[in-house]
Amino acid sequence: MVAGCGYPLVINMMRFDPYTLLKDSQHRRVEYVRFSITDRCNYRCTYCMPATGLQFHHKADLLTYEEIVRLATIFISLGIRRVRLTGGEPLVRKHLAGELVAALSRLDGIEDLAMTTNGHLLNDYADVLYAAGLRRINVSVDTLDPARFSQITRGGNLTRVLSGIEKAKALGMIPLKINAVVVAGVNEFDPPSLIRYSAERGFILRLIEYMPIGVDDNWKTGFVSLQQIKQRLAESYEFDDCDPVVGGGPAHYLQLSPKNGSHEPVRVGFIAALSENFCAHCNRVRVTSDGRLRECLSREGFLSLRNLMRQGADDTEIGAAIRRALFMKVDGHSFGAEHGHVATLQTMSSIGG
Ligand code: GTP
Ligand code: 5AD
Ligand code: SF4
Repeated sequence: MVAGCGYPLVINMMRFDPYTLLKDSQHRRVEYVRFSITDRCNYRCTYCMPATGLQFHHKADLLTYEEIVRLATIFISLGIRRVRLTGGEPLVRKHLAGELVAALSRLDGIEDLAMTTNGHLLNDYADVLYAAGLRRINVSVDTLDPARFSQITRGGNLTRVLSGIEKAKALGMIPLKINAVVVAGVNEFDPPSLIRYSAERGFILRLIEYMPIGVDDNWKTGFVSLQQIKQRLAESYEFDDCDPVVGGGPAHYLQLSPKNGSHEPVRVGFIAALSENFCAHCNRVRVTSDGRLRECLSREGFLSLRNLMRQGADDTEIGAAIRRALFMKVDGHSFGAEHGHVATLQTMSSIGG
C-alpha cells in the first residue's frame, strides 16, 4: 500500500464493488478519460484564463508521456474506451505526436482517441498527428471575425487557425468539430456564420454555454443561456433530431436547416452545462497535467496518480485507488447561474475543459 496520495481516508469506509467496470456512486458508467497534458497555452482566451496571467507547473511536475500511457493502460483495464487529450493547448508540448499519440493509438482497447486544440499549431502538426494515428479533433473557433477572434483569444490569429483546420480536413480528420463558447456582448450573434461555415465544410458545430470556472466576474455579464440562443436561431432555422454523432461528450445534437435554403443542413451540438444540466449522464473523468484525478470538472481532485506511480505503486493498486476515488464522485457540478458563483481557484485552461 502506498501512502501519501492525499485522498481522504473516509473512502475506505464506503462500500464499492472492486470488480465491475468503472462506476461511480450514482451508478454512472465511466468510459471516457480526458488527459490534460499541459497547463500552458499559446492563447489567453478571456473565458478561460484571467487577464492577470497564471503560474504554470514546472516541467518535473507534469506527467511524463510514459506515465500517461501507463495510466491509459490502467484505465482501459477498468473499462475506459475513449481518450481525449486536452491542455492548456496540447500542441505546445514537444514531441506530442511521435511520443504520446503514437503510443496511445497502438494500445488495444481505445475505441476513440481524440484531441481538443485551439488550432494555432495545426498547420505545423496535422500531418504528424495523422501519421501517429489521430483521426479526431475538436477545434475552438468562437467567431469568424478576425478582430473579434484576436480580442477573445487575446492575440490569436484566425487565418492561421482556419488554414490549420483545412489541412486537418484534407488529411481526413473527419468528422471535425468546431467549439464555440457563446459570450453575451461578444460573439452571441456569431452562431449563424459559424453554422454556415460548418455546413459548407461538413463540420459539426458545438455551441457551448459559458461556465463559471477560473474566470473573474466577466462571467456574470458574459453568461447567456443557450436556450436564448436557440430561440434566436429558431427564427431562421428548422430544428430536427439528427443521426448519432461520434463522441463521448455532453453535447445534445440537433440538425439545423436554414429556412431560406441557403446552405445544407448541419448538425449542431448544444453544451448547456448550466441551463440544461447533463451531470446525470456524466461518463467521464479527468487527469490533470500534474497527474491528479479530477472526478468532476467542477471539483478539485485530491488523488495524485503521479505520486502513486512515483512512489512505486503497481497497476493493481493504482486501479483500486481510481475506483475508490470515483466512488466518491459528486452527483453534479457545483456552479450555477442561480448562485452567481464563479470558481476562481483553478482555471479552465489548467483543467482542459
Ligand atoms: P466529443 O468526444 O467530441 O463529444 O468531445 P467533448 O465535447 O467531450 O470534448 P471537448 O473538449 O470538445 O469539450 C467541449 C466542451 O464540453 C468544453 O467546453 C468542455 O468544458 C465541456 N465539457 C466536457 N465534459 C464536460 C463535463 O463533464 N461537464 C461540463 N460541465 N462540461 C464539460
Ligand atoms: N466555459 C465553457 N467552455 C470553456 N472552454 C474553455 N473555457 C470555458 C468556459 N469558461 C472550452 C474551450 C475548449 C474546451 C476545451 O473548453 O473553448 O473548446
Ligand atoms: Fe483558449 Fe483553450 Fe487556451 Fe483556454 S486552453 S486559453 S480555451 S485556447
